[in-house]
Amino acid sequence: MISLPKASSALCYLFATALSNPVASPFQTLNTRASSQPIAPSEDPWYTAPTGFETTTPGTILRIREAPGNATSLVANCSAVYNILFRSTDANYEPTFGVTTLFVPSKDISSPGNSSSSASLLSLQIAYNSADVDASPSYSLYTGLTQPALGAPATSTDVGFALSNGWHVSIVDFEGPHASFGLGPQAGHAVLDAVRAVLSSSVFPSADASSTTVAMWGYSGGSIATEFAAEFQEQYAPELDFAGIAIGGIVTNVTNVIHNINGGPFAGLLPGVLLGVTSQDAEARAYLVSKLKEEGPTNKSYFLEDLHLNVNGAFAAYPNVSVFDFFDDGESDVFAPILQNIFNRNSYMGAHGVPRIPVFAYKAIGDEFTDIEQTDALFSWYCSVGARIWFQRNEVGGHVDEIVNGRERALEWLKTVFDGSYVAGGCLTENVRVNTSSLGY
Ligand SMILES: *[C@@H]1O[C@H](CO)[C@@H](O)[C@H](O)[C@H]1NC(C)=O
Ligand SMILES: *[C@@H]1O[C@H](CO)[C@@H](O)[C@H](O)[C@H]1NC(C)=O
Ligand SMILES: *[C@@H]1O[C@H](CO)[C@@H](O)[C@H](O)[C@H]1NC(C)=O
Ligand SMILES: *[C@@H]1O[C@H](CO)[C@@H](O)[C@H](O)[C@H]1NC(C)=O
Ligand SMILES: *[C@@H]1O[C@H](CO)[C@@H](O)[C@H](O)[C@H]1NC(C)=O
Ligand SMILES: *[C@@H]1O[C@H](CO)[C@@H](O)[C@H](O)[C@H]1NC(C)=O
Ligand SMILES: *[C@@H]1O[C@H](CO)[C@@H](O)[C@H](O)[C@H]1NC(C)=O
Repeated sequence: MISLPKASSALCYLFATALSNPVASPFQTLNTRASSQPIAPSEDPWYTAPTGFETTTPGTILRIREAPGNATSLVANCSAVYNILFRSTDANYEPTFGVTTLFVPSKDISSPGNSSSSASLLSLQIAYNSADVDASPSYSLYTGLTQPALGAPATSTDVGFALSNGWHVSIVDFEGPHASFGLGPQAGHAVLDAVRAVLSSSVFPSADASSTTVAMWGYSGGSIATEFAAEFQEQYAPELDFAGIAIGGIVTNVTNVIHNINGGPFAGLLPGVLLGVTSQDAEARAYLVSKLKEEGPTNKSYFLEDLHLNVNGAFAAYPNVSVFDFFDDGESDVFAPILQNIFNRNSYMGAHGVPRIPVFAYKAIGDEFTDIEQTDALFSWYCSVGARIWFQRNEVGGHVDEIVNGRERALEWLKTVFDGSYVAGGCLTENVRVNTSSLGY
């Protein structure tokens, strides 16, 4: 059970007011819980930005509450879980809000190398890959976090590992309030603003910022959010000092991934990509929907069911489909100029900046989502302009195997980042043979 902070009657009054009238919501109020059970973001009034939020700076905390339900019992060594709603910037570079969930380690855990004024924060980006806002981790963690997926261990295992090392963990709903799957700038901004919000919150150890260590980690869909955050960091959040990022199964190029997974067992991701990238552009969404077939086995209503599916639901709903078959003019509709322009602005890595943060990257050479050559080319460009990237190309397995084959290496690397023993050099690319997975994908 979470023990509630003692709420004064004034706090209770303000919170009640906030629920019925967001205008009166004071920023940075530690609200009590809305309910003992989590409510879906699409129905929970907590998931709205208070009036006037647009004038705040990105990363400003707009609301904070203890996470509803029994969130602390979902992971090991967790003493508290908070939801923080903060100001961010969307893919149109307009103000929006974001939500992150902060897991606090048990008090008696001291991180390796923890000195009296240090604290560690891991920003963990989960591949939630959905066009449904109700699949956002702040809500789905109550069910999804503890479920193994595709044969890989549950995310709660990784969060528990982090907490057991004394790290705080922030899991941000990086697709934002419109479930913008595939919009890199939306995700990158959300990740950076979530870190700003956490570091400034009263529930994060108020340590000397210079001795707070922050690192990020993400695989596949999580690599998109993490990598874009690193691309944007130098200019969007130059004051943030990250010690490192770990990215795996790097999804470099949206065109490449559409071609590669179309018609296969992971094709179910593609309706979500097309709905996600049009989620912040009404004209493009109207175009997309107008081109969907009205009848036949691959029709509009079947495609739009994806608006209410999480990633596992989408895999199950569209196995082996060709997403092109849903459209009147097939592939040419999917890459029509109105959509290609969105892809150009949002969905290719390397177009917005160069990571200045030390990178540990891992990917299977046989990754069937995006070609390894595209990742090689991206890193080669980054390295030619001063990035520091340790890239391990695994000779074993494919995209899903590497979730398992890579996670231990990522966690061990993160340990060295947090204990201060990792020394970033220049660039190193090496082939490895790691086979801890017997998934056989
Ligand atoms: C609390 O979480 C556990 C899983 O850890 C679950 O079995 C239980 O039903 C949850 N209880 C409530 C009240 O949500
Ligand atoms: C909690 O953390 C301690 C200290 O790191 C560790 O020894 C223990 O195994 C952790 N508990 C669980 C259930 O992971
Ligand atoms: C590190 O130590 C300080 C002081 O003992 C404590 O406030 C802080 O919470 C510790 N950090 C972690 C992650 O346990
Ligand atoms: C993305 O992939 C496509 C198809 O594989 C390729 O034609 C294109 O050049 C790639 N774009 C970038 C920016 O790498
Ligand atoms: C739309 O597609 C679904 C799934 O293939 C099918 O069950 C349904 O009958 C189709 N509707 C029409 C109007 O063709
Ligand atoms: C999808 O295709 C694979 C490979 O051809 C096949 O093994 C699998 O049974 C198919 N799945 C469905 C649901 O049709
Ligand atoms: C990886 O290990 C599994 C057994 O755990 C084995 O079946 C598989 O052949 C191995 N793959 C490679 C490429 O060595």
